[in-house]
Amino acid sequence: MGDRILHKGLKSKVMSAEAAAALIPNGATVGMSGFTGAGYPKAVPIALSKRALDERLAGKPLKLNVLTGASTGPEQDTMMSIVEAQRFRFPYQGDAATREKINAGLMEYQDMHLSHAGSLVRHGHYGKIDFALIEVTRINEDGTAVPSSSCGNNNVYLEHAEKIILEVNSWQDERLEGMHDIISMSSVHGQRQPIPLLTADDRKGSKYWKFDTSKVVAIVESTYPDRNAPFKAPEEIHKKIAQHIMDFFDGEVKAKRLPKNLTPLQSGVGNIANAVLVGLNEGPFESMISYTEVVQDGMLDMLDSGKLTAASATAFSVSPQGQVRFNKDIDRYRKQIILRPQEISNNPEIIRRLGCIAMNGFVEADIYGHVNSTHIAGKGVENGIGGSGDFARNSAYTIFMSPATAKDGKISAIVPFATHIDHTEHDVHGIVTEFGFADLRGRSPKEKAKEIIEKCAAPEYRPILWDYVKRAMKSPSAGLHSPHMFEEAFAFHTRYLKTGDMRPKK
Ligand code: COA
Repeated sequence: MGDRILHKGLKSKVMSAEAAAALIPNGATVGMSGFTGAGYPKAVPIALSKRALDERLAGKPLKLNVLTGASTGPEQDTMMSIVEAQRFRFPYQGDAATREKINAGLMEYQDMHLSHAGSLVRHGHYGKIDFALIEVTRINEDGTAVPSSSCGNNNVYLEHAEKIILEVNSWQDERLEGMHDIISMSSVHGQRQPIPLLTADDRKGSKYWKFDTSKVVAIVESTYPDRNAPFKAPEEIHKKIAQHIMDFFDGEVKAKRLPKNLTPLQSGVGNIANAVLVGLNEGPFESMISYTEVVQDGMLDMLDSGKLTAASATAFSVSPQGQVRFNKDIDRYRKQIILRPQEISNNPEIIRRLGCIAMNGFVEADIYGHVNSTHIAGKGVENGIGGSGDFARNSAYTIFMSPATAKDGKISAIVPFATHIDHTEHDVHGIVTEFGFADLRGRSPKEKAKEIIEKCAAPEYRPILWDYVKRAMKSPSAGLHSPHMFEEAFAFHTRYLKTGDMRPKK
């Protein structure tokens, strides 16, 4: 392991995880690495959690403000949330224990567009960043570091923290070196230069993290693996969703609105997104490229088959099998995959210029096309908006996908009014379920309602959705542009909370 710390002056900073954790005082703000279970610090958060437990038993609870790139893994989010060591969490999480504490009111969470997070930190909205706690693959002789399996907001935390703690993780393959393209944006509003990336696979930055080595107060050696969650094999429902999307692309190519190799693809998190990649790998489109947030197994398949020429992202989100495959062929993947800081991978200006195709999951969509990606009625926040807003607002094609129902049909994903709106009807071009693809382009709200109900809602929900629309058309409460009955707009949800089923009893 010693050979992963090549900078002579920094060797003296090596210490145990417990000693490094002890440097972080109660109330500190810590900017951590980590994005979708990749490249997050593991050893120090475990030590912080143990310390938090001891201090809690002694009546002095440890409370930290934890900023990251996005979600992390069990050693960080799960453990630190269970012991309630996270007072505040930003800008995304996807962890069951963290979700439970947030929804129980035991921790504060700010769910934020991932491309905005860095700028907000730079402008001081989270106060002083006391520590950057960053996982790296190696520290070079010149004091730069080889990034690990995600970039996230690491550059921002390394630049702005008062002190730096590095976790050098020898589980991360050293051959990751050269896969990253680090461009750091100016922190001054009004003085930013254009980002010089002209294509999704362009490289214009550095391979390494650069930071002030005099700020490094601790280096911890670690061997913990990333949280690599397995993907489910696509179910019939997912395959149908993928097929509707393929048919839509086919129509766009025939109409000459899209080239035969499509435009750069963005694919969200989860099993449906992965199933769409499986569909694309088996479909007719060739030489595609992606400008996205995470590289999943489905993207590795597409790189293997040659359907995808390159993938730009900020992190990996692969299964354990995907990780083995990746390490085996890492020398090829290094040429095809580019990992960038999230303010670049999710940058609105680049996404708009490249004309990306955004495909993300949703929790519920309403009849007029507003989309809720984050909140579940009766439960609270699920994960967060993540990068879905960065891509949805700025892509040439913005598609949201979900099964039409959840919980054995008791919940409809198509509702009269979404209980929380992450993406407005102005951003959403297509909604797709296993029943069909609602093309919302060029349609007014009432026309969208017809398209969404007929194409996407489960057949058993269509009559009650139509009943709502028809009665709303006669109601004076909201006008006839996007007619609503305020007193009934959440009737599906209130019925579900009372009876456990959105469908009225027969
Ligand atoms: N009401 C209640 N529960 C619902 C629901 C609804 N309308 N829709 C989904 N759920 C539940 C599911 O039943 C499931 O619950 P379970 O874990 O208890 O089984 C859970 O929510 C997740 O749903 P699932 O069908 O497994 O979908 P998914 O894994 O594809 O995730 C999102 C869907 C919306 C949660 C996910 O895409 C997400 O977090 N999106 C926001 C962030 C994002 O888009 N990131 C990508 C940007 S690059």
